[in-house]
Amino acid sequence: MNIGYKRTKMNSLVLVILLFSLVPIVWCYPARCEEEDALLGRCNVPVAVKPICTDIVLGYCDDMPYTKTMYPNLLDNKNREAVETGPEYVLLSVLHTLLKGECTPDLRMLGCSIIAPRCEMNKILKPCRSSCEMLKKNCMHAFENIEMAWPYFLDCDRFFVGEEEGCYDPLESLRGRHEFMVDNSAPELSTIIQFTYHSHSQMTNILKKTAEKCSDISRTYSIGRSFEGKDLIVIEFSNNPGQHELLEPEVKYVGNMHGNEVLGRELLIYLAQYLCSEYLLGNQRIQTLINTTRIHLLASMNPDGYDLAASEIGASDEQEDAEAARYNERTSGRANGQNIDLNRNFPDLTSIVYQRRRNKGFRTDHIPIPDSYWFGKVAPETYAVMKWIRSIPFVLSASLHGGDLVVSYPYDFSRHPEKEKMFSPTPDEQVFKLLAKSYADQHPVMPDQSHDRCGGEFANTNGIVNGALWYSFAGGMSDFNYLHTNCFEITVELGCDKFPGESELYTGWQENKEALLTYMEMVHRGIKGIVRDESGKAIKGARISVRGIRHDVTTAEGGDYWRILPSGLHIITASAEGYSKVMKKINLPSRLMKAGSVDFVLSSVVEEPDLFVSIPQDTYDRFDPYNKFDEYGRSGNREPEEETQEKPWWWSYFAFLGNNQPTWLLRRY
Ligand SMILES: *[C@@H]1O[C@H](CO)[C@@H](O)[C@H](O)[C@H]1NC(C)=O
Ligand SMILES: [Zn+2]
Repeated sequence: MNIGYKRTKMNSLVLVILLFSLVPIVWCYPARCEEEDALLGRCNVPVAVKPICTDIVLGYCDDMPYTKTMYPNLLDNKNREAVETGPEYVLLSVLHTLLKGECTPDLRMLGCSIIAPRCEMNKILKPCRSSCEMLKKNCMHAFENIEMAWPYFLDCDRFFVGEEEGCYDPLESLRGRHEFMVDNSAPELSTIIQFTYHSHSQMTNILKKTAEKCSDISRTYSIGRSFEGKDLIVIEFSNNPGQHELLEPEVKYVGNMHGNEVLGRELLIYLAQYLCSEYLLGNQRIQTLINTTRIHLLASMNPDGYDLAASEIGASDEQEDAEAARYNERTSGRANGQNIDLNRNFPDLTSIVYQRRRNKGFRTDHIPIPDSYWFGKVAPETYAVMKWIRSIPFVLSASLHGGDLVVSYPYDFSRHPEKEKMFSPTPDEQVFKLLAKSYADQHPVMPDQSHDRCGGEFANTNGIVNGALWYSFAGGMSDFNYLHTNCFEITVELGCDKFPGESELYTGWQENKEALLTYMEMVHRGIKGIVRDESGKAIKGARISVRGIRHDVTTAEGGDYWRILPSGLHIITASAEGYSKVMKKINLPSRLMKAGSVDFVLSSVVEEPDLFVSIPQDTYDRFDPYNKFDEYGRSGNREPEEETQEKPWWWSYFAFLGNNQPTWLLRRY
């Protein structure tokens, strides 16, 4: 809003007030009744009874600093009944609940000053604009948190007046408290999260709002579209959003890959709000995390499946049916809109590794995607995620599922084709165990041995399990992350119940919050550094090898790399085509919480072919033979189904008002 506009608005406001002040004058001098008017019966018409002060008999306005009001009130409600059945009063009655106590009673009292305005000497006194503006400034975010518009009748310009017009402060009785808060200069705020389910549009909206609120450290972006055209939206947190920073590791969480496994989706929506809010509130741990890490949250990888699952749960009216639907293994929505199970749809590189594992010099990293993969059906969600994880130098990841309570780690595909339950470790078994334990150990139930949960299958494994030992499947996302990129991904099964009741969401958050944070902090374990040539130029794509682990990581654009490692002695080698190898011996102390810094300078050599096992760059770069991303991008003329008709969760509080519902509380999405 620019100044000019505001001024015009103020002028017209003054005009309105002038007109208003004429009204009592008319009442003071009732129009004389001329004789002929009396004959025509006109004199009886303007017998508008002069309004007088009357007691406030409204339960939610009984703590105002005055006791008398007048009808019609400032909203032109003619009497108490009209007030009590109006949406404005209903809003005041539920505000405390909706805003979880934030900004009330202040907001309620501000509303009462309009609904039950102060009356003195049979005149309405208007509340001060400054009180309104102050409160709006402090409380706007509480409305934003629940996606509610600022109520029209709390429009500071419209219903409130300035000091010069003799306003009064409706929050006078709270004044002492306010001054106390001002003295403290940092009012005690806390992170407010609404623990409910979010539809696709609600999720998109809340993530965008969160990124706006924390625009210095956050942004949202889309990595592509679902089969039905919904954006796969990611929220990012970093002290430099939108950019990879040299040596700053990148971590991601992926939720809701199986559309009917929904807790992870909500946890990531809560996590985003938590990170934003705690950063702003000065939480040192969160600030340190965000200042040193780039975090990406894809709350829903399968929004189409979610919609289907949510509609089935919603359609079962009877409590029992809903319970049944939740526990039913066959609940729809696991797969995407084309009925493809996304966690079976990634290129199966694990088979390739098994076939070639005895070949000399063969390594289990950066395995190219075989051409045959592209002849099969590739879901747009799978495609978008592949493109995403190839475009960012991710170091660490977790995929959030439901249906059991355990953390599983690669390989997910059994090394024996006929054995469906077979321990199939990666060369990084130790690292993966460390990672899986870091999550499970922070969960109050997961590592519990006595706890009877989901059949107690993992009671003796401390809540972690090798994926293939649990049950084998090919084409999973975690194996792909490990074998095609530098990223280490685990799978977290968040609980037996794939679609828990809404009342369990808060517990779900409490149980997983610490684990989610701790796991992200694990990205700082091990070593990191930069590989340069003698002139100081970064070498991209150099390999970092660890003796005894047949799995290299490669350097990113700026020559930077990260290698998560267990504590102990390690021999690290950096190599790149056209350069001599450099070897370093390091000792990682067990309590080291920050990545040790290990840089390399490689000197160029006259190339001797065959000495260097190079990544088959050609194949690696032929990732996108059909240019599918563009194809899906263009198919965007299939309009995404924006559920603009959908109402926010708090709408049910006003449902009984029928035609009188407060549509003015809805925000344009
Ligand atoms: C994080 O970075 C911000 C911006 O540079 C700085 O103000 C803040 O003090 C830092 N916090 C911590 C804990 O490092
Ligand atoms: Zn799953």
